[in-house]
Amino acid sequence: MKHFPALAIRTLPVIALCAVMAPAAPKPVALDSYDAQAKALLKQMTLEEKIGQMTQADQMYLKDPNDIATYFLGSVLSGGDSDPKDGNSLAAWTELYDSCQKIALKTRLKIPLLYGVDVVHGHNNVLGAVIFPHNIGLGCTRDAELVEKVSQITAQEVKATGINWAFAPCVAAPQDIRWGRIYEGYSEDPKLVKVLGAAAVRGLQGTGLKDPDAVLACAKHYVADGGTSFGTGSPLLDQGDAKVDEDTLRKIHLPGYVSAIDAGVGTVMPSYSSWNGVKCSASKKLMTDILKDELGFQGFLISDYNAVNQLAPDFKQAIAISINAGMDMVMAPEDYREFYNDLKALVEEGKVPQSRIDDAVTRILRVKFAMGLMDKKHSPLADRSLQAMFGSPEHRTVARQAVRESLVLLKNRKKTLPLDRSVKRVHVAGKSADDLGNQCGGWTIDWQGKSGRVTTGGTTIYAAIQTTVSKDTKVTYSRDGTGAEGADAGVVVIGEEPYAEMKGDKKDLSLDAEDIAAVKNMKKAGIPVVVVLISGRPMILGEVLEDADAVVAAWLPGTEGEGVTDVLFGDFSPTGKLSYTWPRSMEQLPLNINMKKVKYDPLFKYGYGLKY
Ligand code: GLC
Repeated sequence: MKHFPALAIRTLPVIALCAVMAPAAPKPVALDSYDAQAKALLKQMTLEEKIGQMTQADQMYLKDPNDIATYFLGSVLSGGDSDPKDGNSLAAWTELYDSCQKIALKTRLKIPLLYGVDVVHGHNNVLGAVIFPHNIGLGCTRDAELVEKVSQITAQEVKATGINWAFAPCVAAPQDIRWGRIYEGYSEDPKLVKVLGAAAVRGLQGTGLKDPDAVLACAKHYVADGGTSFGTGSPLLDQGDAKVDEDTLRKIHLPGYVSAIDAGVGTVMPSYSSWNGVKCSASKKLMTDILKDELGFQGFLISDYNAVNQLAPDFKQAIAISINAGMDMVMAPEDYREFYNDLKALVEEGKVPQSRIDDAVTRILRVKFAMGLMDKKHSPLADRSLQAMFGSPEHRTVARQAVRESLVLLKNRKKTLPLDRSVKRVHVAGKSADDLGNQCGGWTIDWQGKSGRVTTGGTTIYAAIQTTVSKDTKVTYSRDGTGAEGADAGVVVIGEEPYAEMKGDKKDLSLDAEDIAAVKNMKKAGIPVVVVLISGRPMILGEVLEDADAVVAAWLPGTEGEGVTDVLFGDFSPTGKLSYTWPRSMEQLPLNINMKKVKYDPLFKYGYGLKY
């Protein structure tokens, strides 16, 4: 395992943090090396065909599937809840992809579609896919090689459905844990984001975008989506305003993009949020001057979902603002027809120069050539031979390792952990002990995720305990922690229920009354109590910290619950280190290692984590 130095504590000299241990990666092929082919194709294209390439619709809102050809669409996406009509099976997703691609291939130039989905922690829309720990947990592994492997497997499972574009990795550096998307970020520390974001791009895109089981990646959300000020967002932080100077923007929020570009990322998604009052999706300074001109990004920019609509009351005016500022493709899920007609009119009226259209389409075509999509010998339809490994035990083994390495041991009074698997009885409690939905969190089958025993194939922590203990050990369960008397040890699994994006903005991160009561009930039995926290962020532990003999932060581990019991029962020692600062109270927030002139006195420091 290649580990990023975990001792990234505030006081360490910066130099100590720069000794990044990331595998030396082969330099990706420069996207502009495909310009001759891209420009030759551009020459053949009509204005309509060019504008079509800049248009992305959501498949669920296609007024007529043939609009893919009628409007020469360059891309189609499935947003959070945009599923196949026949359900979320591997077969249904593959059929959906092929049906869209076949229509695109009926056009005059037969330019294949890019089909994009949110690949937040695995191919998380599809039943039976391996669901990996969310990025907050991967951040705690400090293991770039593992993150690359996780992303490689994710790409394989995505490509098994034919889908060829992942809106990942999120390279935010969230600075306030009250943000609903914090768990999509690896860390508050830009140095860690830089290393793991690049590893994810390499894993997703393979050695050169052309690998049959590689997909196009998308670094998001550009930029400082995780740096917004509390109270400026909807409702609190999400899509808010990052009121930071340029030096802070460059030091904290840009590094993930620099390393993603170095790793050859083919697309970048500008953020809904603003920088000092200017929407990122309207900012020529951010999208063109810094990203394209200064950093040399050669791929293309894809807007967020209806993000362009937010730029002006009049959609046509908003389109002009964003395209002229450097946006290349617009995610216009429902109003793709209006987008197409408005942009065409804007070019004809001279309000968007033809040169901007040609630049955008050249960028899009470069990427499609680099992916081998234009190679006549290579069919862009799904390769169903890739489905053999979908959700396979081999893939789950890697996910289980990622779970193990993501766990952070926060407390272990009198060496309560590791537990003895051959005791007479273990009592299990808590709302998330036997709830795969809570264990996976948001972006799982449904956009918001949802609580529930079995939302997709996987192993709950309760089920994992049952298979880990010896055959003579009794495992009992009560959600509220009662009935533990006589057991040798108690495990209480508590924390957050699933959420995504703005639904997760919270002004209070205290544990809920049910969780506190479950721990107290377990403690009344007079047995050692192990608390496992299933959450998308650090939470205010309050009296639970005192009541518990041991506390493990498991984040949102995904389908492989055995990764948790591997550590609880000592097959592996915990190695995880906090990727975010853990506050004592809400009054301390925001609190992170990047803040100056603030007393840094958290409950657990960035980089904290005990071993056995
Ligand atoms: C969402 C998210 C973005 C996602 C996109 C497509 O609103 O902001 O992360 O990729 O829309 O679902």
